[in-house]
Amino acid sequence: MSKQSQLNEIAAEITQCVKCPLANSRNNTVPGSGNPEADILFVGEAPGQKEDEQGIPFCGAAGKFLDEMLYTIGLSRDQVFIANTLKCRPPENRDPEDSEKQACRPYLDKQVEVIKPKLIVCLGRHSVANFMPGAGGISKLHGKAVRRPNGQVYLALYHPAAALHNGGLRSTLIEDFKKIPAILNKIIKSENQKEIKTKDTEKQKEKEIQQKLL
Ligand code: URA
Repeated sequence: MSKQSQLNEIAAEITQCVKCPLANSRNNTVPGSGNPEADILFVGEAPGQKEDEQGIPFCGAAGKFLDEMLYTIGLSRDQVFIANTLKCRPPENRDPEDSEKQACRPYLDKQVEVIKPKLIVCLGRHSVANFMPGAGGISKLHGKAVRRPNGQVYLALYHPAAALHNGGLRSTLIEDFKKIPAILNKIIKSENQKEIKTKDTEKQKEKEIQQKLL
């Protein structure tokens, strides 16, 4: 099955979800959208009012800012995948509760499993805490890529909504965002080197077997 079909199946499952009380107050689920083959997966906090109305992630003011930052690094929405920690809007945009994050987590895990992004960019403290529990706060982690024990590389960034109205955070977020292409290149380079090493080891083993046979 193609990645797109698998993501469609996950989205269909989310549409039917009643695993937490947010199912009662939502207008639409917001499973996520973008390129199933994306190297970069952005994960925000939860849908806001606009997202709940339209079923599309980051389609409000924070999303416009995200689009602008993507543009500065030569990317557009259709080249990345954008999702959220929660797939439904918490009433009055309150913080996600632990029980809601827990209930929603399997959907995000399945999306990661299908997309297999080289880099997961965590937007905001809730996304950071969800993927990097115990690693520290966002003020310490932002702008630094880390490879976790599961092999996945994560980058913590301030949330675009938090940065929109805070000049200091805004410039920090813009500067951090610009690091994404270099981080991605580094990941790709290290993957290629690993592949070359594996191939060399395989060749060496083949040689040794042939020498034994001679
Ligand atoms: N904030 C988020 O974290 N996600 C959205 O989709 C919109 C705003």
